[in-house]
Amino acid sequence: MRTALCEQLGIEHPIFGFTPSEHVAAAISRAGGLGVLGCVRFNDAAEMDKVLDWMDDSTNGRPYGIDVVMPAKIPAEGAAIDLNKLIPAGHKEFVEQTLLKLGVPPLSSEARAREGVLGWLHSVARAQVEAALAHPARLIANALGSPPPDVIQSAHERGMLVAALAGKAAHARSHVQAGVDIVVAQGYEAGGHTGEIASMVLVPEIVDAVAADVPVLAAGGIGSGRQIAAALALGAAGAWMGSAWLITEEYANLSPLPGLREALLAATSSDTVRSRIYSGKPARLLKNSWTKAWDAPEAPAALPMPLQNLLVAEAHQRLMQSGNPDVIPMPVGQIVGRMNEVKPVADVMRALVTELDETVARLDGLR
Ligand SMILES: Cc1cc2nc3c(=O)[nH]c(=O)nc-3n(C[C@H](O)[C@H](O)[C@H](O)COP(=O)(O)O)c2cc1C
Repeated sequence: MRTALCEQLGIEHPIFGFTPSEHVAAAISRAGGLGVLGCVRFNDAAEMDKVLDWMDDSTNGRPYGIDVVMPAKIPAEGAAIDLNKLIPAGHKEFVEQTLLKLGVPPLSSEARAREGVLGWLHSVARAQVEAALAHPARLIANALGSPPPDVIQSAHERGMLVAALAGKAAHARSHVQAGVDIVVAQGYEAGGHTGEIASMVLVPEIVDAVAADVPVLAAGGIGSGRQIAAALALGAAGAWMGSAWLITEEYANLSPLPGLREALLAATSSDTVRSRIYSGKPARLLKNSWTKAWDAPEAPAALPMPLQNLLVAEAHQRLMQSGNPDVIPMPVGQIVGRMNEVKPVADVMRALVTELDETVARLDGLR
C-alpha cells in the first residue's frame, strides 16, 4: 500500500518511525519505512554528526529523517539571563526530597554531571540543525512548533522536506503558512509531548484544514496494521509511530535496561499519565512512583519549558542511573497496552504491512 508521499520520499510503505535510537531508525528505513532519528538527546553536535555518519552507512541508501526539538516560545537564553536563577528554591527542594524518599542514589563519582538534555534550548537545537543539514537526510521534523523560517529555507535548499507536529487544526494551519511540507497530526494518546484532542477527532480535522496543501500523517495510538488502515481512512498519507519501537530488539542498543522493557511489556493502556513534569509542556509518560510523587497534594506545579527541564535534568540522570523502572521517566503512549512482545524492527514492519493489506482487503469485501 503506497501513498503519493511514499513516491515523493522514495519509501515503500506509508510508515514513519520516530525513535531516539539510530539502530531502530536505520532498521525502519531498511525495511521500507522512513526511520526518523530523534536528536534531542545530543548535547554535542559532534556526537550527533558521528551518529548521522553511521546512519548514512547503515541505511543501504534508503531515505531517513531527523527530528529536533525547537520550541516556538521559550524564555530568552544567553549570557544575559541565568535560567537557573529563575527556578524557585522550593522546586529544587521538592526534587531533592523526592529523590531521597524514592531511594534514588546520587550520581556515581564517574558519572559526569552533564547539564541534562539541553536539546530543548534554541542554541543547542540550532547546532543540531547545522549538523543535520550536512547529511543527506530526506526530512527534518520539529516537535514543538514550526521551525524558524531560515531553517525551513536551508532544508528546502538541500532538497529536504520539513515536517512539524500539530495537536490542533490551528497549529497545522500555521505550520503550512510557515512553509512546512508535512503536518504530523498527533493525538492525545501519543507518547511524549501531546495535545488534548484524540487522534480519531484530530486527524480528520487537520486533514480537512490543510490536506489540500500538504500531506498529513497520523500519530498517536498507532501500533498495528488495522490502526494504520484507520489513519489512511481518516485521510492521512501515512502513520507516524513512536512508542511501538521501544520494545524492538534494536532499541536495546540505546536503552539496555531489562527492567524498563519488562515494565513496558507489562503496562496496560491505563498505565500512562499526561503531565508537564518531564519538560514543562504536557507529555505522556509511563505511570510510576516518580510521576505519582508529582501528583501528590504537596507537590509544586511544574515550571514552564525550559525551566522544568533544567530543574529535573540532573534528577533524570539520577533516575536513569538507578536502573529502577518504577522511577525512570519514560515517555510512552497508550498503545503501550498492546506492546507485549519483543521483536526485531523488520518483523514489526512485516506484521504492520501484512495486517494493513488484510484490513484493506477485508473492508473491500464489505462492498
Ligand atoms: C520515547 C519517546 C520520545 C519522544 N520524543 C520525541 C521528540 O524528541 N521529538 C518528537 O517530535 N516527538 C517525540 N515523540 C513523539 C513521537 O514523535 C510520536 O509523535 C508519538 O510517539 C506518536 O504516538 P505513539 O507514541 O502513540 O506512537 C516521542 C515519543 C516517544 C514514545
